[in-house]
Amino acid sequence: MDEDTYLLNFKGYNFLRALIDIDQLESLDDFEIRDEDIFIITYPKSGTIWTQQILSLIYYEDHRNRTSQMDSLDRAPFLEYNIRKVDFSKRPSPRLFSSHLPYYLAPNALKNNKNKIIYVYRNPKDVMISYFHFSKLLVALEDVDNIEQFMKRFLDGKVVGSLWFDHIRGWYEHRHSFNVLFMRYEDMKKDLRSSVLKICSFLEKELSDEAVDDVVRKATFRNMKSDPQANYDKFVREEVGARTEDGCFLRKGTIGDWKRHLTVEQSEMFDRIFQRKMKEIPLKFIWDVNEE
Ligand code: A3P
Repeated sequence: MDEDTYLLNFKGYNFLRALIDIDQLESLDDFEIRDEDIFIITYPKSGTIWTQQILSLIYYEDHRNRTSQMDSLDRAPFLEYNIRKVDFSKRPSPRLFSSHLPYYLAPNALKNNKNKIIYVYRNPKDVMISYFHFSKLLVALEDVDNIEQFMKRFLDGKVVGSLWFDHIRGWYEHRHSFNVLFMRYEDMKKDLRSSVLKICSFLEKELSDEAVDDVVRKATFRNMKSDPQANYDKFVREEVGARTEDGCFLRKGTIGDWKRHLTVEQSEMFDRIFQRKMKEIPLKFIWDVNEE
């Protein structure tokens, strides 16, 4: 099977064919946005489910104290993949949404500068490694033999989400058209409490110290991994399908795992492309856990 079996290219951007509804895609432009809607935007494998869990915990007390049974996937559903076929118009405000859309496919009404958007980004070598493992896991993604093969696919943008460089560049260069907070995965990892506070401040959500502690506790890698509302295990096994028994969304959750996977040559080649493509983008990246 070739990549077209897995990817659906729509207006120059690759979607996951298995989950996409073309009518929904075509109507995205005119999607009815409410001013209070909040969006999590990411390139795949950059911390989406983590941020879904953080926002679910911030906004819903019954998520925080576990008095409800709703997955974070349903608290902050994907805009372009309406996986559980929810009628979005019936959801009470403020609605949380997640999306991997590039800036130019975002619904027009989002460019009003009113809606709060949290864009989470991660160093792309770790994104690529995470994506490599994810491709081996999910039956809906094209399987891969080795890193070299995946690296080529990733650097050619022949993956869901298309080219990582285009995604981040697009959102960064058009940031003034949106009300967007850029968050770094690595900062969240290094100091989750400060990151939660920063997100709360952007969202103008005041939580008690105890509630913030609770958010932080329930959004750590360890706790999310064992939390069925947050770990997506059921979704992977029962709804999308897994190739192996042991793989999962919450794989490792670390900074710098790429060092265990890339050869020096592969890493240097990546660096050269990164430097060329990101020349005018002043965003800083953390590649190693010991880096400040
Ligand atoms: P790894 O594969 O490197 O472990 P996404 O949700 O965008 O698909 O991103 C998935 C990546 O985010 C996975 O990376 C996953 O482990 C990581 N992740 C999810 N929750 C996390 C958490 N609480 N802390 C750190 N990393 C987390």
